[in-house]
Amino acid sequence: MPFLSILFAFLLTPVAICSTISHGSEANLTTRDTSPISLSNSEWIWQTGFVANSFVGLRKGFTPPLGKSLIAAEVVITASNRFSFYVNGDFIGNGTPVIRGRFAQRFCIDLLPSFNVFAVNATDSTVDEAAMIATILLTYSDLTTDTLVSDASWRVHKTVAGFEQLSFDDTTWPVATVRGSFGDDPWDEINIPASPPVVSFDRGEWIWTDAVPAGGTIPAGSRAFRRTFTPAPGQVAASASIIVSVDNAYTLWVNGVKIGTGSNFNTAQHYNINFATAPEEIVFAVLATNSAAGPAGLIFAAEINMVPSGRVGCIAGAFALTDASWVSTKGMIPAGWEQPGFDDSSWPAAVGVGAFPNSPWGKITIGAAAPTITM
Ligand SMILES: *[C@@H]1O[C@H](CO)[C@@H](O)[C@H](O)[C@H]1NC(C)=O
Ligand SMILES: *[C@@H]1O[C@H](CO)[C@@H](O)[C@H](O)[C@H]1NC(C)=O
Repeated sequence: MPFLSILFAFLLTPVAICSTISHGSEANLTTRDTSPISLSNSEWIWQTGFVANSFVGLRKGFTPPLGKSLIAAEVVITASNRFSFYVNGDFIGNGTPVIRGRFAQRFCIDLLPSFNVFAVNATDSTVDEAAMIATILLTYSDLTTDTLVSDASWRVHKTVAGFEQLSFDDTTWPVATVRGSFGDDPWDEINIPASPPVVSFDRGEWIWTDAVPAGGTIPAGSRAFRRTFTPAPGQVAASASIIVSVDNAYTLWVNGVKIGTGSNFNTAQHYNINFATAPEEIVFAVLATNSAAGPAGLIFAAEINMVPSGRVGCIAGAFALTDASWVSTKGMIPAGWEQPGFDDSSWPAAVGVGAFPNSPWGKITIGAAAPTITM
């Protein structure tokens, strides 16, 4: 074939593929829907013969169809416990064990035009519920899309050095065991960061300081709670949507700025924050007061959305929820504890005192959102 014919054949191929194969919704840079991604067709996968607390490598390589050139991926991922996620060997972000993987993270990644590798290093302290689930929405240079899901085509093996690299050869690795479909027990439904955010206490947990006496009668007094959220590499926090309630009363600060108070646990407050100056980290600080000896609890849910990024302007997001990633005081509350620079490394982790919406607190009303705060 003369050179020009080859060139023309190459240029025409994408058009031919587009018209014969459905690649999901057509989209363009200005109008592309930022929330079409779901986990409904994904499966919970893991390693056969997993040994508790060992590290499992999960890999999925993908080559686009002839004539298609990849530009970006939007990824929704979670696992039953701790995990780290890599694309082409680059660390993208990680997940902590928030209540059996019921809160996914959403990442935006630029891809190589042809072959790309998605890799996860995950572990679990128990065998029963150990599993990972993901959906990867791929966008091509012509702005058509394809979807990859976690399924039996992924390769899974005990992690070995460099397993997350593009060049790693996984052909001898066994394929994944499918442990269940999305929505199956014991994993339940999953909250996915969206734009606009949809914050809820569903699948959330009430916490208190680790000094909960047997019988659950917590002495009257105030306790300080802190949670530091650090955006994944390359992500810039744009906004946070927060709901919070305390039995009996609280004051909330975000990065040292007082946001609001509440004194009736039956009605949570809802706050929206826009970050005008991209914070390197976001420190949520709650002063929680138990007014009389008895039950005490703090429940908090925030969705943090990132500045649109990458070649398709996709919005990444994550959750910060009350769980063991919060730390709290037991005794004296030091001055300046609510400020972002305060060193809380000696504070013990908070403990769960009840799952939402179980008793004694039950379901609670979420108040109308307060006027958006810009900081
Ligand atoms: C983008 O999509 C919108 C709505 O579908 C359409 O009106 C517009 O012409 C498209 N723009 C481009 C550059 O394709
Ligand atoms: C997997 O993650 C664990 C915990 O972070 C780490 O110790 C281990 O080295 C990782 N494995 C590989 C091969 O990167």
